[in-house]
Amino acid sequence: MSKNHQKVVLVGDGAVGSSYAFAMAQQGLAEELAIVDIIKDRTKGDALDLEDATAFTAPKNFYSADYDTCKDADLVVITAGAPQKPGETRLQLVDKNLKIIKSVVEPIVKSGFNGIFLVAANPVDVLTYAVQKLSGFPKNKVVGSGTSLDSARLRVALAKKFNVSPVDVSANIMAEHGDSEFAAYSSATIGGKPVLDLAKEQGVSMDELLKIEDDVRKKAYQIINLKGATFYGVATALARISRAILRDENAVLPIGAPMNGEYGLHDLYIGSPAVVNASGVAKVLEVPLDDREEKAMKSSAETLEEVAKNGMA
Ligand code: 2OP
Repeated sequence: MSKNHQKVVLVGDGAVGSSYAFAMAQQGLAEELAIVDIIKDRTKGDALDLEDATAFTAPKNFYSADYDTCKDADLVVITAGAPQKPGETRLQLVDKNLKIIKSVVEPIVKSGFNGIFLVAANPVDVLTYAVQKLSGFPKNKVVGSGTSLDSARLRVALAKKFNVSPVDVSANIMAEHGDSEFAAYSSATIGGKPVLDLAKEQGVSMDELLKIEDDVRKKAYQIINLKGATFYGVATALARISRAILRDENAVLPIGAPMNGEYGLHDLYIGSPAVVNASGVAKVLEVPLDDREEKAMKSSAETLEEVAKNGMA
């Protein structure tokens, strides 16, 4: 059961973090939201700015804090890390951001924190794995944002193609949150109707669907080239995952999930639909994959394993 007073700690008050705090304020999702960052003036300023927003939403407590505030938090959301520069891949951030992750996980664990970690810093699959290893937390209590944003991008693109609302599109991007991800078209549906059947009926070719997949894969690069960073999409995806955890929803969401034999994979985090509730990742849903998707899943997992092995060595 969810409590009626919940506390979230945001670690990392950059563009993604502050957009997340704003989304949480708009959605009235936690009674307390503490903000931790090395730039103290920014956390203090953001707390005051967000406090103003609460006059129009619901009474909420936003404040700047240090790591010891994590002690009694239900959820710690980690957005701390260097963002991608134009042309840089997510995987190229691994050395820089692993160092940052190590420096934040240690004081969080030391505070006595015993809630759920939600990790969003990139490369998110590798860093989620690192948070689980470094914290020693049970795997279900460490959740990655994984392919939640990519799946949202796919749903938006398919909604445009088939002229339906994105909320009625059930379709997932799976595997790495990055260049080796793929669209799981074989299990995608709109109103229960397979997207592949709908495409056939409406004269949409597989090449067109694969072009949509590729556009989704490249969308972050497109946004970064235009405005230097992406933040509203990921912040809203993080708020959605936070709601599933804080409200104990048993929501089925595409996230960065720990593999325990699903898809023949072990000991890594990768994008897959999973049931998310107050215990974190309650269950990974192993969706059927066709040949193309199975190959893509395997090859993406190999890429992630390699980067994790080298990065953590
Ligand atoms: C995104 O996909 C950069 O990972 C971030 O928007």
